[in-house]
Amino acid sequence: MAINWFPGHMHKARKEIKKVMPQMDLIIEVVDARIPFSSENPLVPNLRGDTPLIKVLNKRDLADPDITARWQAWLEQERGVRAVTLTHNQRAEALDILRLAQDMTPGHDRQKSALRVMILGIPNVGKSTLINTLAGRPVAKTGNEPAVTRAQQAIKLPDNILLYDTPGFLWPKLSPEACGYRLAITGAIRSAVLDFEDVALFEADYLLLAYPEQVMARYGLEERPRDGLALMDAIAVRRRFLGRGGVPDLHKVSEVLLNEFRAGTLGRLSLETPEMVEQEAREAAAEAARKAEEKAGRN
Ligand code: G4P
Repeated sequence: MAINWFPGHMHKARKEIKKVMPQMDLIIEVVDARIPFSSENPLVPNLRGDTPLIKVLNKRDLADPDITARWQAWLEQERGVRAVTLTHNQRAEALDILRLAQDMTPGHDRQKSALRVMILGIPNVGKSTLINTLAGRPVAKTGNEPAVTRAQQAIKLPDNILLYDTPGFLWPKLSPEACGYRLAITGAIRSAVLDFEDVALFEADYLLLAYPEQVMARYGLEERPRDGLALMDAIAVRRRFLGRGGVPDLHKVSEVLLNEFRAGTLGRLSLETPEMVEQEAREAAAEAARKAEEKAGRN
């Protein structure tokens, strides 16, 4: 996937969604359970207003179950938000989401009119898979047609529910920087901006901090490496990914680390916790305040 997020496109998508969103009775946002914050679309909190929202923490088969439970509780602190977990090939559970949608819109009379549900999610979180599961058939993948056009092509679901897919053109969160790295680790963005080996190093540093036992067991290491780079070197030695003169082939190590994380070979691991993103938000706010002060000082 090679998508560039141009400001003009972003502005257009925002305008379209802003137009369509108020016509909806409920929103389903699909996120990746390993990164529920980084994989959220930045438009949703801004444009949702009072519309009820179901967060689907998808790919739970790959995520750390304890952390996923903490995310659910954290997300549900917000008014009008319910958070459920899901994994592919679970039709009964997917249909439970529609029942929840009905419970969350008690004022709506489905005998009179269809319940209008908008589904959205940044690329690669599993939105199409969920739509197909709900529809019970393959539904063509969303292209980049305007949201208004898409809105006329709703998918009919049981119990008089109409599902409105959104344009595929929804950009992910690109700041703070850590969000970009986490998205790149899961494969949600293949950004040319982030260097492949830097992404793997970010992963190595994090896994060593959060899941040292799993990582050491997987790569047969007896001693805990002191940091991510030392971990990558140790993997290169163990797997004999060595170039001329015994220099560690970090590109090969990066491939292994990223592919094994994405496939779940390293176990069920999450890349962020509510506490981490709260801390990052505090740091970003402090940094913004510092910059503002610096600017004021200059004037
Ligand atoms: P999107 O519409 O949000 O872009 O995502 P899509 O449904 O195309 O899913 C993206 C990838 O994630 C697909 O894999 C899909 O099979 C996988 N996926 C979806 N839901 C789950 C889940 O609950 N768990 C896991 N482990 N994977 C999930 P792919 O490799 O891109 O394609 P394919 O090999 O399935 O064809």
